[in-house]
Amino acid sequence: MPINRQIVLDNRPQGEASVQNFRLVTSETPPLQEGQVLVRHHFLSLDPYMRGRMNDSKSYAASQPLGEVMIGGTVGEIVESRHEGYCVGDKVVGMGGWQEYSVVDANQSGVLRKVDTSRVPLSAYLGAVGMPGVTAYYGLVHILEPKAGQTVTVTAAAGAVGSAYAALAKARGCRVVGIAGGYEKCRYATQELGYDACIDYKEHRNEVRSLSQALRDACPDGIDGHFENVGGWIMDAVMLRMNAFSRMALCGLIAGYDGQPVPMANPSLILINRMRIEGFIVSEQMQVWPAALKELGELVAEGKLRPRESIAQGIEAAPEAFIGMLKGRNFGKQLVKLL
Ligand SMILES: NC(=O)c1ccc[n+]([C@@H]2O[C@H](COP(=O)([O-])OP(=O)(O)OC[C@H]3O[C@@H](n4cnc5c(N)ncnc54)[C@H](OP(=O)(O)O)[C@@H]3O)[C@@H](O)[C@H]2O)c1
Repeated sequence: MPINRQIVLDNRPQGEASVQNFRLVTSETPPLQEGQVLVRHHFLSLDPYMRGRMNDSKSYAASQPLGEVMIGGTVGEIVESRHEGYCVGDKVVGMGGWQEYSVVDANQSGVLRKVDTSRVPLSAYLGAVGMPGVTAYYGLVHILEPKAGQTVTVTAAAGAVGSAYAALAKARGCRVVGIAGGYEKCRYATQELGYDACIDYKEHRNEVRSLSQALRDACPDGIDGHFENVGGWIMDAVMLRMNAFSRMALCGLIAGYDGQPVPMANPSLILINRMRIEGFIVSEQMQVWPAALKELGELVAEGKLRPRESIAQGIEAAPEAFIGMLKGRNFGKQLVKLL
């Protein structure tokens, strides 16, 4: 059986996460039992939620146990099968974790999904046609429920969720405005992702009024629906431009993932604007996944959604790439190429 290189969580972060929280180990993959398959991972997905799992605090999901392989979405190929439903060569998406191979009990429902790579690249099943894409879909379609002609906004606009959000919002006839960090990301957002405008929050240096003014220019009719990924002063600036009866999908608060406080400066705006703010966890909304994946798959297959990917090489590069993604060094979906 092949040697498997794995990244385990070695210790929990005190404040900022660092590469020292992880450890590379090797083990031999065990022989397959009846009903199991061996998957060779081609790509590992690095996602912000993993930062929360590194803590040992109250959350919607259990903590990552120390000394065990880090949790994570993977796409790969069956290289050995003792399950009649899977053949060698089948391409699959699963939760294989930060390692080169995984042994999967294929009888368990939902642990592996076969995917068709004839029109959609394999890696896209971890991004636009995977969990991040469905996240954008759920927040936009089921919480914001925009009508054609309305203005919708999103933070972390050039990332994995943000890029799918732009395509889905444009398909619904919305004006879509992003907020992202840096000139290059904003240019990419408008030129390649379809945003009508994108604001570089770094130009506004923590000044809520200044960012809010830029939003006023980009959203002359105000904001009808906002998809929040960041929190803090950027969300405060957005709140100032929200319309009466607007909606906010609270998807992430990445500005606070290392333990920083993310206060809301002006909650009275919720009342004044009769806003509806709704948090959600995409893995609890499985009923929308089939419709979401169908639409997202079509958008990618037709070339209407071809977001960039940041690809780190080799399992040993995963910790550094993960920390970089939390700091915004990624451009689009952050992946690790394992084959
Ligand atoms: N609720 C759910 O079920 C669910 C599911 C998936 C994802 N999420 C959330 O969705 C958000 C986006 O996830 P993603 O996978 O698409 O990641 P991503 O946007 O590809 O990468 C994270 C981005 O966050 C931005 N960022 C980091 N720290 C920031 C800060 N202090 N201020 C402003 N921006 C900051 C960076 O972009 P810039 O360079 O533009 O700053 C970075 O590239 C995250 O908050 C994540 O936790 C939630």
